[in-house]
Formats: sequence, C-alpha cells, structure tokens
Amino acid sequence: MRFVTVIGNRPQFVKAAAVSRVLREQHEELLVNTGQHYDDELSTIFVTELGIPRPEHQLSLGSGSNTAQTARMLTAIEPILADARPDAVLVYGDTNSTLAGALAAAQAGVPIAHVEAGMRSFDRRMPEELNRVLTDHMSQLLLCSSQTAIDNLAREHAVGDRVLVGDVMVDVAQLFQPRAAADDVPLRDAGVEPGQYVLVTAHRAGNVDDPGRLRALVDLLLALPLPAVLPLHPRTGARLDAAGLLDTLQSADHIRLTPPLGYLAFTALLTRARAMLTDSGGVQKEAYLAGVPCITLRDTTEWVETVDSGWNVLVDLDRDAAIAALDRTMPAARPELYGDGHAAERVVAALGALATGVPGAGGGPGAAGPVGP
Ligand code: UD1
Ligand code: UDP
Repeated sequence: MRFVTVIGNRPQFVKAAAVSRVLREQHEELLVNTGQHYDDELSTIFVTELGIPRPEHQLSLGSGSNTAQTARMLTAIEPILADARPDAVLVYGDTNSTLAGALAAAQAGVPIAHVEAGMRSFDRRMPEELNRVLTDHMSQLLLCSSQTAIDNLAREHAVGDRVLVGDVMVDVAQLFQPRAAADDVPLRDAGVEPGQYVLVTAHRAGNVDDPGRLRALVDLLLALPLPAVLPLHPRTGARLDAAGLLDTLQSADHIRLTPPLGYLAFTALLTRARAMLTDSGGVQKEAYLAGVPCITLRDTTEWVETVDSGWNVLVDLDRDAAIAALDRTMPAARPELYGDGHAAERVVAALGALATGVPGAGGGPGAAGPVGP
C-alpha cells in the first residue's frame, strides 16, 4: 500500500518520528514536508535527532497568514497527490499543514487518516480548533489518543471510523525521556539545578499576538519566584521584539532565554524541572509522562485528562494563580492516560485495515475499533 504523509512543523516531526519507521516496515510512504517550520531549530534538528526519514517532497511554504499559508500548501500538494496516487493520506494534529493535506486529499478523492483526531478545546477562535474540526469531518480513519476524543467525535456524528490507538507522542517520549533524564548538559548550559527551576514555552497566537495578553504573559514570567528557562518560539520572539518587551525579559536575572531547543535538550530540561509552564498541546502531555507538574497558560485544553488527574492546572495568564500552582500538592497516582507507547503500531494496523476495506479494523462506521491501548 502507498501512503502520502503530510507534515510541516515541530510537533509533527515528533509524531512522524513515531509512525514513519513502523509504517515503512509494511508499506510505502512518501513524506511531504510543507516547510511550515523552516528554521533548523524547529525542523532539521528533529529530523536528525529523532531519525525521521528524509522527506521525498521538501516544500518551502512557511510564513504568512493562516489562510495564505494553507492556500499555498493546497496548490503544492494537489499535483503531488495526482502523481503519487496514494491509497490514503496521513495527517497529524491540528496545524495548517494538517488541514491542507486533508483538504487536498479530500478534493482528490483520496481517503484521509487523521492522527490525534477528536481533540477539542471547544474554542473556535483558535486556528487549531478549526483545523481539527474540518480535518476530522473529512477523514475516513479517525485515530484517537483518548476515549474523550472518541466521545467528542461520536457527539459530532463524524462519519469516519473511530479507532482508539493511544498517543504517538507517548511512543517517542518513552523512548527518549529516560536518556534525556540522565543528560545534565542542557541544565548546565542554562545554569540551573535539578528541581530548582521552571521550564516555560509559549507560542499560542491567542497569547502572543494580542499586545495586552503578551504584556500579561511577560508580567507573569517576571513574577516567578525561581529561575525560568524559556526557549523562545520565533513567533513569540518576534512579538516580544515588536512590543519592546524582549529587553525586559533579557534583563531579568531569573529568566534564561534560549533559542528553540532540540527534542533531547528540551526533554532533558523538562524531566528535571520543578514545573512546566506552557501553552503547548504536546508539552502538556510530555510533562505528564515525565511526572512534572504542569501549569497551562490557557483557559482551555484538549488534554483534559491531565487536568482531571490533578497533574495539570489551567491558569490562563493569571499571575497569582500560576505562582500559587507552583506550591500545590501533586497526586500520588499517574495512570496511563494516552496509551502504552505502542500507538504507532496501532496506527499502522488501522491503516492496513483501511486499505483492505475493513472499516476501523472491524469496528464499522462510527464505532471504536478493537485496537485500543
Ligand atoms: C504553528 C501551528 C501551531 C503549533 C505550532 C508548533 C498553525 C495554525 N499553527 O504555529 O498549532 O502549535 O506551529 O510550534 O498551524 N517562523 C519562523 N521560523 C520558522 C517558523 C515560523 O521565524 O521556522 C515565524 C514566522 O514569522 C511565522 C511565524 O513564526 O510567520 C508563525 O509561524 P506559523 O507556522 O504560521 O505558526 P506557529 O506559531 O509556528
Ligand atoms: N519542543 C522542543 N523544543 C522546544 C519546545 C518544544 O523540542 O524548545 C518539543 C516538545 O518536546 C514537543 C513539541 O516540541 O514534543 C511540541 O511542539 P509545540 O509546543 O511547538 O507545538 P504544539 O504541541 O503546541 O502544537
């Protein structure tokens, strides 16, 4: 069977690292990298560190508005699909590259398999929420990380086959977190001691594009009572610079600004942090897997199980709530929320079943397949 996989940015490189190798053991895969993320720190380093196959189609379609970016991608992906004539197109997550891959496939009459289907923040102001909902409702195969995702799709009457596979980021985290936890170099480079710093990431458009919210984010960071390592996403760096706030952060003694880090250095810092402060989706999961308390700088999350379990708390940009959350008592239990680290195998099994025309690996339309974690 032949699959075209469309990826384009940082979290998708991580997800492809889990799936592509397993997929290629049984099927043919053509990898299309849209180039949505093009800086080496957000792209090449992941390909090198995580062993992602070299993309068969390397495009350069990053930057610009969501609409312009998606339109450029659609135009570029259409001829690739016409030429490759794949049995299905595989997309991950909720970015512009996801939507473009899915819509180009749908227009070409090619079945779509969506990894991380059914995640919802229920906030349609987020470009990611639009991308998720639209992609899910075009997909034949809805590969879900959690039962919550399955239930969300059932409630929306999504017509594709729902299969609970677990989360492919867990596969990667299980592989790399133990090694990263033994690497002290990134902590030394940042000048921090285990357990005595927080790690911070922020890049969500809703947090950094609005000047008032960006100022609130900076105020929150300035008020933190312990060292904070902040690998700066380029969107955030540009917005801080434009608002004249980059110097403010740079001159704060307790804040260590770094360029975006590779997966291994970032994971090394994550595993020893006293807490993770983030508005990232993937990082909320990874903090949970590492047993690091998470403080989410949003008022919604798709990863509700991390909150329900007591390991994650939503504080939006409330400075006092964030600081109070640093001192909360963590639960003793950390159950397996997103699978057992073998999600990629289940993704590939479900893709194989799609190819043989057995919906949802035997589950039938609208049913959760039998291959859950
Ligand atoms: C995108 C995704 C977001 C995901 C994030 C992962 C969408 C709508 N957003 O957000 O869901 O969480 O990636 O990190 O798809 N830029 C650079 N260098 C790069 C890439 C981007 O400088 O390599 C700058 C450009 O000015 C660009 C801006 O960052 O315009 C935003 O990049 P973009 O890919 O549009 O969105 P992200 O904020 O990265
Ligand atoms: N990540 C990284 N270096 C960083 C910040 C994040 O390697 O400096 C990794 C992180 O471990 C996770 C992924 O990038 O695997 C999350 O991507 P991001 O936060 O950009 O996107 P989101 O998950 O919010 O879509």
